[in-house]
Amino acid sequence: MTDLILLGLETSCDETAASVLRRSADGRVEVLSSVIASQIAAHAPYGGVVPEIAARAHVESIDAIAGQAMSEAGVIYGDLSGVAATAGPGLVGGVMVGLAFGKAVALARGLPLIAVNHLEGHAVSARLAADIPYPFLLLLVSGGHCQLLAVEGVGACKRLGSTIDDAAGEAFDKIAKSLGLPYPGGPALEKLAVGGDPTAFTLPRALLGRDGCDFSFSGLKTAAARLAETVTSETQRKDLAAAVQTAIARQLSDRTDRAMAAYAMTRGNRDLRFVVAGGVAANGAVRAKLMETAAARGFSFNAPPLIYCTDNAAMIALAGAERLALGMTDPLDAPARPRWPL
Ligand code: KG4
Ligand code: ZN
Repeated sequence: MTDLILLGLETSCDETAASVLRRSADGRVEVLSSVIASQIAAHAPYGGVVPEIAARAHVESIDAIAGQAMSEAGVIYGDLSGVAATAGPGLVGGVMVGLAFGKAVALARGLPLIAVNHLEGHAVSARLAADIPYPFLLLLVSGGHCQLLAVEGVGACKRLGSTIDDAAGEAFDKIAKSLGLPYPGGPALEKLAVGGDPTAFTLPRALLGRDGCDFSFSGLKTAAARLAETVTSETQRKDLAAAVQTAIARQLSDRTDRAMAAYAMTRGNRDLRFVVAGGVAANGAVRAKLMETAAARGFSFNAPPLIYCTDNAAMIALAGAERLALGMTDPLDAPARPRWPL
């Protein structure tokens, strides 16, 4: 088999992204370009993503962003082996823009289309920069999702646990908002927490030590929002930010630790690889805590480089390439799926 060259498109939330990626027959991966046009400035005045504004912004920029990705990669449409576009889950107006663009390129050029699950993109994102063979245990923590999955192979995941209320990124964002921080809240809260004392506030320890691998962040969110109303000094704000970050990292670690124990048993303690991916995987305290957890359980620790933690199209192109290599393609009438569990 020859090399595959994929155009990847990502429009499920507030980034319009396109990427060109080469995957060689032996599975080596080279990101030839990865262009991300962030809509942060357009949504910031509203304190969160406004779906209608997002969809319109994707329409305005998708053509230019895809063109930029192609020219930065030094390829023409005739060089492509396939087009991979996010088909969900996400904001349906945005998803439809990228998917329709991908279908148009596929139809015009006679190329196979791969309708990619955004979460599968996050699942493979660590494989963009390192050779991490299947199977592995995945903690997927983003703005919309918080799940533990056993990833057995391409498109083959088994869910071990998920959040019963908010996602971890959502908790970061909402608590950050109550602390008066700008959107997106996660990175802003991480900055504020630097030098803060995480022991200065006591926060709920949801589900800690409980059976199973599910998550819950709503109690923490409510408690932190109440405390945010009472803080007066900058020192207190920093302390609260540090306490929140530590509480989120601790819960992620506690649930992951349980999943690791169960996963190790089913695998007979062989091939113990752990991957954390998604926007929240960009958080230094979260990474550090999970690194400790993995080491204590004898798992290797893997996380994508920071640029591939948050939404990007390189991960969509890779998920598409892995599927295409196995002949898994989709028809041109593949639907946009606002809800699409892995
Ligand atoms: O994966 P992503 O870009 O989009 C989704 O698919 O949801 O994740 C975005 C989420 C947001 O909630 C954002 O606040 C959070 O990831 N995030 C962070 C950090 N960077 C992004 N949370 C904590 N610390 C960070 N450094
Ligand atoms: Zn995402």
